[in-house]
Amino acid sequence: MSFDATWFRCPNCFENLSAIDDLSIGCANGHRFDVSRQGTVTLLPPRTPKTVGDTREMLDARRDVLDTGLFGPIADAVVEAADTGGLRLSGEPARVADLGCGTGYYAARVADAVPLSTFLAADRSPIAVRVATRDLPRATGVVLDLWQPLPLRDDIADVVLNVFAPRHPSEFARILRPRGRLIVVVPTARHLRELRAAGELLEIPEGKAERVVDQFDGAGLTLFERTPVEYRPEADATVRAQLAGMGPSAHHAGALAGRTTGDNGAPQPLTVSVDVLVFVFGRSGSSS
Ligand SMILES: C[S@@+](CC[C@H](N)C(=O)[O-])C[C@H]1O[C@@H](n2cnc3c(N)ncnc32)[C@H](O)[C@@H]1O
Repeated sequence: MSFDATWFRCPNCFENLSAIDDLSIGCANGHRFDVSRQGTVTLLPPRTPKTVGDTREMLDARRDVLDTGLFGPIADAVVEAADTGGLRLSGEPARVADLGCGTGYYAARVADAVPLSTFLAADRSPIAVRVATRDLPRATGVVLDLWQPLPLRDDIADVVLNVFAPRHPSEFARILRPRGRLIVVVPTARHLRELRAAGELLEIPEGKAERVVDQFDGAGLTLFERTPVEYRPEADATVRAQLAGMGPSAHHAGALAGRTTGDNGAPQPLTVSVDVLVFVFGRSGSSS
């Protein structure tokens, strides 16, 4: 276990948290939190809504899709953005926080590329945090709610990853070090459009990806790079079913997407459109 309490502040009173003993952390006001033997902790504010994040089934479907390499080019773009952006700026091992980490696939790719970094795997789903922390080197895991004030200290991350996950611009700005980089991956309306047209995934409103820039600008973060990643990989019936199964419309969509023919008996498309934007943000004046 490589648990690092220096990532955290108390979700109740916002005082810094530090180790009490091997299996608990606490703040000066007496709030205490258990650390699991796997190096994970749950830091949710009182009365947090009972949203639970991705289920085991959704995570399994996501892992199966990612294992095929279908989203490999997105991971390549994330790694390149992290490496050219924040990772080597301080000269010390970089601190990378993956917020809405899922299985931790993108953080793991960054870990391969920049071996000395240390990681925070953060998600609302306890299973996701467990899986991601287990598979990442030098990782601490935290169950948190990205819609709430984050239980993370000010200026604590060199790189923040936020891939297909909820965004909280003012909080992301607060935890980013002055010369740090925030890497956000957002699907465009054309992403996986073949599955959306068949009703197997939710529609993405046109222009939604672009509006992300305004949200972060309003939080004091400037756009440094905008990289479109577009390609059309093959996706057989199994992969299409997994793509549908890893999303919020998973319950009914998996069976539909796994069919080899559509409602009219015509064969389902053999390729899908991957179409996302990779944004890199930082504080104004920290671009060099
Ligand atoms: C579409 S998945 C993306 C996972 C991962 N970044 C990837 O691309 O493989 C969205 C992730 O956000 C998590 N999530 C959803 N709502 C959340 C919340 N309010 N706070 C923290 N995580 C949340 C889900 O549990 C899920 O793991």
